[in-house]
Amino acid sequence: MNQPVIILALALCASALDNGLMSTPPMGWLAWERYRCDIDCENDPKNCISEKLFMDMADRLSEDGWRELGYVYVNIDDCWSSKQRDKDGRLQADPKRFPGGIKKLADYLHIRGLKLGIYGDMGTHTCGGYPGTTLDKIELDANTFAEWEVDMFKFDGCYSNATVQAQGYPLMTKALNATGRPIAYSCSWPAYQGGLPPKVNYTQLGELCNLWRNYGDIQDSWDSVMSIVDWFFENQDVLIPFAEPGKWNDPDMLIIGDFGLSMEQSRSQMALWAIMAAPLFMSNDLRTLSSGARVILQNKMIISINQDPLGIQGRRILKEKSGIQIFQRPLSKNTSALLFFSRRADMPYRYKTSLAKLNYTTGSYKVIDVYTFKSLELKDSTEFVVSVNPSGVVMWYVTAPAKLNTRLYFRDGLDQAPVREQVQNDIPVLL
Ligand SMILES: *[C@@H]1O[C@H](CO)[C@@H](O)[C@H](O)[C@H]1NC(C)=O
Ligand SMILES: *[C@@H]1O[C@H](CO)[C@@H](O)[C@H](O)[C@H]1NC(C)=O
Ligand SMILES: *[C@@H]1O[C@H](CO)[C@@H](O)[C@H](O)[C@H]1NC(C)=O
Ligand SMILES: *[C@@H]1O[C@H](CO)[C@@H](O)[C@H](O)[C@H]1NC(C)=O
Ligand SMILES: *[C@@H]1O[C@H](CO)[C@@H](O)[C@H](O)[C@H]1NC(C)=O
Repeated sequence: MNQPVIILALALCASALDNGLMSTPPMGWLAWERYRCDIDCENDPKNCISEKLFMDMADRLSEDGWRELGYVYVNIDDCWSSKQRDKDGRLQADPKRFPGGIKKLADYLHIRGLKLGIYGDMGTHTCGGYPGTTLDKIELDANTFAEWEVDMFKFDGCYSNATVQAQGYPLMTKALNATGRPIAYSCSWPAYQGGLPPKVNYTQLGELCNLWRNYGDIQDSWDSVMSIVDWFFENQDVLIPFAEPGKWNDPDMLIIGDFGLSMEQSRSQMALWAIMAAPLFMSNDLRTLSSGARVILQNKMIISINQDPLGIQGRRILKEKSGIQIFQRPLSKNTSALLFFSRRADMPYRYKTSLAKLNYTTGSYKVIDVYTFKSLELKDSTEFVVSVNPSGVVMWYVTAPAKLNTRLYFRDGLDQAPVREQVQNDIPVLL
């Protein structure tokens, strides 16, 4: 590579990403997990990577109530381009599968209040073997995307190496900024560095990217969801501090509505992604989605937990030997999300605890089950039982504690443990 490119890359290290985008985790639809690199439009016209697929999804997002809930991105992944750049060296869409071109597709989305994401790779080729965006092409490709009025760009890292990535990811930040068009930037960089420090510098990533894929691709299976969840929560102390408005850890797509998850597991993925303040990109077929999957993906309470303006990523607070795991996410206005998750494989498990045992401060709380909409008032000391299904969740939205009334609640702020034990004779059950 030539000298000037390297100097530019070094000069950039001092600046920060400030494109004003993604103050809450992005929501929308992304082709990859469900549609991969299906380019066989002759035999599989409904599912191949073509403008028709993205227009179909745009129709569904805008007509079936998704857009109003925040699902506005329609994102192209790999295998969209022609195998050759054009005579001026520019990327071009495959002419058979995208006869209208990307700009026209962007117009189609924008008219419907949606946004277009596109995909590239900083190596010699994309993962699927299409033209890559080598260092010398970064500016050109950023300009091309801006001319097409693209709103988001995912930069993958196949067929590159650590040296090239350390130059290319920052250069693309600069090139996107220089176009003058706000284009959200998704970096796959950490996924190619093993996801953790010292190889990944999350401070730097936060200065360069709006979101970043930390870990491997999701597949259409519960095992895959669990391997991602385990990795993110085993490493939560590393990851949580770097999530904030405009900057998100990305555990990859929602596969709800596909083939690999039961309804319980679908509810679990949605809930866990909300706890993680994760981007919500569905990769499914919105044309044929079951009503069960739709109800989960369109759950307003969970979406508002995911989209909480504080943007604090939640954590696992307890991992019981029984296989029950408990997660919590602090939300604005002193509220929180509380999630009980069962890793058991036998039968619904009746888990008994109290908010005090989960370190909630003294007070009286209202909790709302976000899937059943049942609500209940609890003192911090009130013991309760949640019944958690195998591979399922119980998720609560917990309101701010009301002021403690000493006449009602016995306690005086000294927080003596014995007081807790004497309180309850009836234990509420929440299903
Ligand atoms: C480019 O970066 C500057 C400085 O960080 C920022 O003020 C501006 O909004 C950015 N523009 C775009 C289009 O991202
Ligand atoms: C990384 O890739 C670049 C560009 O293909 C190449 O010039 C360089 O030698 C590679 N570096 C290593 C350490 O493999
Ligand atoms: C990580 O990136 C930040 C911001 O670019 C930089 O100040 C810091 O020195 C980097 N840390 C390491 C260990 O390289
Ligand atoms: C949140 O709780 C803290 C500490 O209990 C209190 O000082 C603050 O006023 C509360 N904020 C809101 C918005 O209720
Ligand atoms: C509650 O706080 C104590 C003391 O800081 C801590 O040891 C314990 O792990 C916490 N429990 C939970 C469920 O967060």
